[in-house]
Amino acid sequence: MSGTNPAERIIIALDVKNKTEALDLARRLPRAVLFKVGLELFTAEGPELLRELGREGKGLFLDLKLHDIPNTVAQAVKSGARHGVRMMTLHASGGSEMMARAAEAAAETASREGVPRPLLLGVTVLTSLADADLAALGLAASARDQVVRLARLAEGAGLDGVVSSAKEIEAVRAETRKDFQVVTPGIRPAWAAADDQKRVMTPAEAVRLGADRLVIGRPVTRADDPQRAFDRILEEIS
Ligand code: C5P
Repeated sequence: MSGTNPAERIIIALDVKNKTEALDLARRLPRAVLFKVGLELFTAEGPELLRELGREGKGLFLDLKLHDIPNTVAQAVKSGARHGVRMMTLHASGGSEMMARAAEAAAETASREGVPRPLLLGVTVLTSLADADLAALGLAASARDQVVRLARLAEGAGLDGVVSSAKEIEAVRAETRKDFQVVTPGIRPAWAAADDQKRVMTPAEAVRLGADRLVIGRPVTRADDPQRAFDRILEEIS
């Protein structure tokens, strides 16, 4: 991550209901560069929202956690690249071929159509799943071992990184190449409320353990002065 704009280390989660609220929030954060649009907002507002945020000069992280047959996922990645998104997520448990085809589609679309190549991030094990849930799915591994296994599979298939909870940053870092990106949610500065996040980590600690980028929602989006909260976090990790 050296040499990149430090503001690119923070991804603001646009967890709002509609386009008006999303654009309003984005405009209140003139120095934030990257914004995460997830399933809820994307299914409500569709690609038009991506175009509007793009026109505002915002970089987009399209967090749809794709998981389907390789061809379908590759086509969805192609569409995402055409919208100019900077990052997209797909489930690593969709398998090596699915991820490899997605990576190819991202690279091909970028070179053929002159758009930036989106970084593809693997989702490993959802933090809503505990070891017992994995066992019920027929998976004998602990959540931690499964995260590492899927991160390595994602790396081998040509993805750019993974989304990882703070508690798995170190394990993923230790088992993957140096420039494999680790993007971490569940971040809470010491001065912010934990909300519904159970295992939180401060921005500085997550970066110290090896996170490249942090996904941050409420500590910034619900702050009285979101830009000031953003600047404070940026200072803490710089
Ligand atoms: O408001 P908060 O900072 O908790 O928002 C974190 C964002 O990261 C939300 O969009 C949430 O869905 C996402 N996320 C998370 N924990 C995970 C995966 C994603 O909080 N394990």
